[in-house]
Amino acid sequence: MLRTHTCGELNINNVHQNVTLTGWVQKIRDKGGLIWIDLRDRYGITQLVMEEGVTLPEVITVSKTLGREFVIRVEGEVIERISKNPKLPTGDIEIRVAEIEVLNPSKTPPFTIEDQTDGGEELRMKYRYLDLRRNPVKSNLLLRHRMAMETRKYLDSIRFVEIETPVLIKSTPEGARDFVVPSRMNKGRFYALPQSPQTFKQLLMVAGYDRYYQIVKCFRDEDLRADRQPEFTQIDCEMSFVEQEDILNAFEGLTKYLFKEVKNIEVNDFPRMSYDDAMRFYGSDKPDIRFGMRFVELNDVAKNKGFVVFDSAELVVGIAAPGCAGYTRKQLDKLTEFVKKPQIGAKGLVYVKYNEDGTFKSSVDKFFDQESLKNWAEKSGAAPGDLLLVLAGEATPTRKALNELRLEMGNRLGLRNPDVFAPLWVVDFPLLEWDDETQRYHAMHHPFTSPKPEDIPLLDENPGKVRANAYDLVINGVEIGGGSIRIHNKALQQKMFSVLGFSEDEAQAQFGFLMNAFEYGAPPHGGIALGFDRLVSLFGGSDSIRDFIAFPKNNAGRDVMIDSPSEIAPEQLDELGLKLAEDKE
Ligand code: AMO
Repeated sequence: MLRTHTCGELNINNVHQNVTLTGWVQKIRDKGGLIWIDLRDRYGITQLVMEEGVTLPEVITVSKTLGREFVIRVEGEVIERISKNPKLPTGDIEIRVAEIEVLNPSKTPPFTIEDQTDGGEELRMKYRYLDLRRNPVKSNLLLRHRMAMETRKYLDSIRFVEIETPVLIKSTPEGARDFVVPSRMNKGRFYALPQSPQTFKQLLMVAGYDRYYQIVKCFRDEDLRADRQPEFTQIDCEMSFVEQEDILNAFEGLTKYLFKEVKNIEVNDFPRMSYDDAMRFYGSDKPDIRFGMRFVELNDVAKNKGFVVFDSAELVVGIAAPGCAGYTRKQLDKLTEFVKKPQIGAKGLVYVKYNEDGTFKSSVDKFFDQESLKNWAEKSGAAPGDLLLVLAGEATPTRKALNELRLEMGNRLGLRNPDVFAPLWVVDFPLLEWDDETQRYHAMHHPFTSPKPEDIPLLDENPGKVRANAYDLVINGVEIGGGSIRIHNKALQQKMFSVLGFSEDEAQAQFGFLMNAFEYGAPPHGGIALGFDRLVSLFGGSDSIRDFIAFPKNNAGRDVMIDSPSEIAPEQLDELGLKLAEDKE
């Protein structure tokens, strides 16, 4: 070893020892006769000291050549500091340097390697290896490591086996586009990268492995957001001879275990909410239940009073924002602007102030007297001091817009505390959703999801009404995971493909391997996948998964450090039997 200790471990008990340390120069303070250097490695920071007249002149000379991020090796004696730093674990001591060696000099980094850096996002990504030296990023990756280890420990303890599945495969339909890889040996043919190991994990159940898991990379070519990367990691699982309840219990167990082990937080049993209730009361299939403000439907008290916006609406629905009756004109205008943004799409916002003195003041006083407004307030459980915010229109978009407004109010009122965790299971998802564009049903989860047995007859009469044995794990308004009980019977799987608009031949060509396997003793099975990057970033208190991935891609799907995706040589294209379109820019 080039060192005897790391920069994070020496303390008052080591005083008088001779040690050798290695690391990066974090900071140099040259006070004439005295030079201090903060030496940093993964484990911490240790202060080095050199003193003219005490330290050898050649050592002082070398120290004068050092700059930030130089890699050095020093030898010296641990001494007690005169002015201690209680914030550092090594803050009671320093090293009186006897020898120094520069292992590698460094250019001045393009941004400061400090917790609060002066580097912008783009620059930090270009020099990600320098960004990764910073404490906040480092602690995110260490958290990720810890959570992966604990996940493996827990799943192993309940007899899950980790099995790797291939990466060069054929399309798995998880609803995004595939990334494809051309095959040199099979010209004109392409592998697809897995959007998830879905079909393979089901085949492992047919093969009798009973409980499978994998912490696995998945690839989806979709529009990127703070919580979406083109390649991301799942804790992917599958179990045999189980019902929905068994899977929910196993993964509620894993989630609680992680909260306890990693954050020392005991979370209560996760409540269950049907998809229908989630949409009705929160306008979202991933409600943030850290706070209330549930939706209140006001059709029966608000319609037919001569206000045409309400009368012509399918749904009049509101929330009661606690303690906001004092909102000024300006604040209300801001909220109206917010709901009218194109991404939110509401036409306007109606407010009712429930004043502390029990009177009401609303934007629709012309149409509704005090008695009517009192009715609204009672219906919505509002108290004096609260502000009712009401939207109206077509049911689905209105609920969606109110969801956004509710979250915005949650933010404004500080009700979305990242240190509070409110998990829940959303269950009873519809099996299918209608897509206006393609005029077809799509699988809401994926096509291998089992309908609820009692709803199977509806597959012919009213496919949109069929409920699935599917569930999502939602924490703080984030979809952390999703899964389902699967179809394990060939005829039902064929039926499902036909409802989804596949011809028998198409279904056979794409998924024949799975349906054939179902003819060789497929056990009842089901599973779930948790988005590992999302789970880690939730634990780390951030909305952006990028901060928890060592080498993430930017919002355009690019890695600006290695400059990918990039062009390839004409010979390589040739070898793959590929030609670029003429109009390529
Ligand atoms: P699903 O598509 O719901 O299910 O994915 C499971 C979880 O993976 C996370 N996730 C993502 N995280 C980051 N970036 C992305 N682009 C991204 N896409 C998804 C989410 C999501 O809840 N095979 C099924 C699981 C099953 O049925 O067992 C599947 O992949 O947290």
